[in-house]
Amino acid sequence: MESYQVERLKINYKTLEEFTKFHEYGLPELSMLDDLQANMIENDSLSPFYGIYRDGQLAARISLYRVDAKYDRYFHPAQDHYEIWKLEVLPQYRGQGLGQALVAYAKSLGLPIKTNARRRSDPFWVKMGFVPVHYDPARDRGESPYVWLPAGAELRD
Ligand SMILES: CC(C)(COP(=O)(O)OP(=O)(O)OC[C@H]1O[C@@H](n2cnc3c(N)ncnc32)[C@H](O)[C@@H]1OP(=O)(O)O)[C@@H](O)C(=O)NCCC(=O)NCCS
Repeated sequence: MESYQVERLKINYKTLEEFTKFHEYGLPELSMLDDLQANMIENDSLSPFYGIYRDGQLAARISLYRVDAKYDRYFHPAQDHYEIWKLEVLPQYRGQGLGQALVAYAKSLGLPIKTNARRRSDPFWVKMGFVPVHYDPARDRGESPYVWLPAGAELRD
């Protein structure tokens, strides 16, 4: 399969324009736009998003937040980990390995990963080597949490 270049996305007007093509567009993107317009952040500041460009446009993106160990509620012992949000490949680029390449990038950072399998994407996460966690209503509050464990990492329960 073709190998794709995964890039850290910079916050600028071009990136924010690209984001409007994605289905999952909401407060995080609007707040970046507000911050840019109000000069609260500099043009080309680093964002938590990574992406793959095809044909000169952003074709796939993923948001990766590093969560500090003190907020960890999934792993044992409590440890720094990544949370994946907003993994999305534009419809015309699906089925070409872009989603897998973004998840592989997240795994290459070497920390456990937690995500919320939205929009019936559970089979995709299983294919990526993620496992569902025991559902805890107080902690998970309607999410479908899936995790990926690097060697040596364990689930909390
Ligand atoms: C889910 C999504 C990110 C997958 O991206 P993609 O680039 O199309 O997936 P890939 O081409 O990298 O697929 C990698 C493997 O997963 C499989 N796969 C992809 N989507 C799948 C799905 N919904 N269910 C089961 N398997 C799936 C592929 O068949 C492929 O398997 P193979 O290597 O055996 O051929 C993409 O379909 C998407 O953006 N969906 C809408 C948003 C979404 O659901 N986001 C995830 C939840 S937050």
